[in-house]
Amino acid sequence: MNNTGLDTEIARLVWSQRYRHGGSAEPDITATWRRIANALAQAEPSGRDEWAARFYRVLEGFHFLPGGRVIAGAGTPRRVTLLNCFVMGGIEDSIPGIFRALQEGAVTMQEGGGVGYDFSTLRPRGLPASIAGNIASGPVSFMAVWDAMCATIQSTGARRGAMMATLRCDHPDIEAFIAAKSQPGVLTHFNLSVLVTDAFMRAAAEGAPWRLIFPATPPHRMTREVNAAELWDRLMRASFASAEPGVLFIDQINRMNNLHYCERISAVNPCGEVPLPHYGGCDLGSLNLTAFISAPFSPSARLDMEALLAAVPIAVRILDNVLDVSHFPLPAQAQEVRAKRRVGLGITGLADALIMLGLDYGSEAARHWASGVMREICHAAYRASTALAAEKGAFLAFSRDAYLAGPFIRALPDDVRDAIATHGIRNSHLLAIAPTGTISLLAGNVSSGIEPVFAAEADRMILDAFGAQQHVTVMDHAVRLWRQEQGGRLPPAFVDAGALPVQAHLGMQAALQAHVDQSIAKTINLPATCGFADFADTFRAAHALGLKGCTVFRPQAAAGVLSARA
Ligand code: CDP
Repeated sequence: MNNTGLDTEIARLVWSQRYRHGGSAEPDITATWRRIANALAQAEPSGRDEWAARFYRVLEGFHFLPGGRVIAGAGTPRRVTLLNCFVMGGIEDSIPGIFRALQEGAVTMQEGGGVGYDFSTLRPRGLPASIAGNIASGPVSFMAVWDAMCATIQSTGARRGAMMATLRCDHPDIEAFIAAKSQPGVLTHFNLSVLVTDAFMRAAAEGAPWRLIFPATPPHRMTREVNAAELWDRLMRASFASAEPGVLFIDQINRMNNLHYCERISAVNPCGEVPLPHYGGCDLGSLNLTAFISAPFSPSARLDMEALLAAVPIAVRILDNVLDVSHFPLPAQAQEVRAKRRVGLGITGLADALIMLGLDYGSEAARHWASGVMREICHAAYRASTALAAEKGAFLAFSRDAYLAGPFIRALPDDVRDAIATHGIRNSHLLAIAPTGTISLLAGNVSSGIEPVFAAEADRMILDAFGAQQHVTVMDHAVRLWRQEQGGRLPPAFVDAGALPVQAHLGMQAALQAHVDQSIAKTINLPATCGFADFADTFRAAHALGLKGCTVFRPQAAAGVLSARA
């Protein structure tokens, strides 16, 4: 890739349809980078021109890719949020409460934010609805109302926003939730995840009774006992058949949360990489590892670690500034987000970087390398945020001793902990690995996030601004570079997602999770031949590895937007 151009058809399409602003005012991608750099430098109290120039240098050549909302919205007059995703407020269990929550979701999606909701607060189907003497229809019935809202908002030309719904594993409607997407064409705008507790995993392993209960306090209490192993089996069979629901290990999420002392989490953003409290949001950005590799495919291929780590503080500063310049759909979101200043710096292009270095994605050497890179990024990001705190102040909800007691923080190097103790820290959380579905295409179809390459060549369907489908053939970035240099065949370390054993997917997710304070968007692609027992074992292994969630996909389970060509 040359440093200023868009070398592929897909990159040009994505840029012109999603990210280019103002037509001829933005003649090429360098003008887009300039717009973003200038807009985010406005949050600086002084030296804005110098900051804009530094921001530009990490954007240039796709070294750092801010989340798609930043690229689309920063520096434009549009009243849009620059945060990719939100978790909404708790849904109050009343008709006015439910429709207030629906309205809040609608205005958030109108501005381009994806939304996550915990539906566990709604009473189960069959309980009395006291005021009018009716019978409650249950959370799943209300999710259909959200689905219709989302379809309608999209038809207005807003970004194709995603939604996430969670339900606790002890909610009396859990079976209905598990079965909710078993029919095609139902709740298509939702990803579903069950909030699974450690107690439930133990009960399922033992085949013990499991109590479903709502609410915690009378008068309208419903309780029912099921067998935990049977409920787990039902969940696994639904997921085996239709790839949903996924599973969130909610106790691990709360245990590992840096803000364990001031918030409880019960929902995540739509693709799962950011567990968030009510009205929380996360601004995402990814370091593109492929842009830091020199002499690819040769024996002297290497990652320029110095340049990568020099980009980290700039990336953190950019993301921190996003919080100040972004518009927020709801005042409650602005207040919540600015009190904690979560940012989600991640990586993309991991699989392509491995191919360029000659490392097989499924090997121990690849996991070791990736984990080492992520550890360095993590420490550099924390150092950067403590320096920002010294300069601009710590986040409002920072409480020194409680923060330092968190398990993720306890594992950081001494110099970082000392700096936190002295200066505080600007951002409660620093790291998350996003799917980078669109921004990776902009960067020339580098492999997404930490996913293995899906296929050397694939048909991609993309939607234009009017929702019309366009099909484009895209070639993986590393494969394209290889063919430019070496011609026909595939690079030696090339491996596609379906050819990897499940342990390779889980192993990579676990190797990186150790250095990510939030979470990782990862879909474990299983081969079509995978049987049910191995499928269910994948989820148990994910729990045992201390992962925060697990999403598994089998080729025949559901139709995706990608179809392999090679
Ligand atoms: O590539 P881009 O920055 O646009 O987004 P991504 O990394 O693929 O997705 C990041 C997050 O944006 C997801 O986890 C969702 O919360 C949200 N998202 C959404 O709401 N709607 C979409 N169509 C895509 C992403």
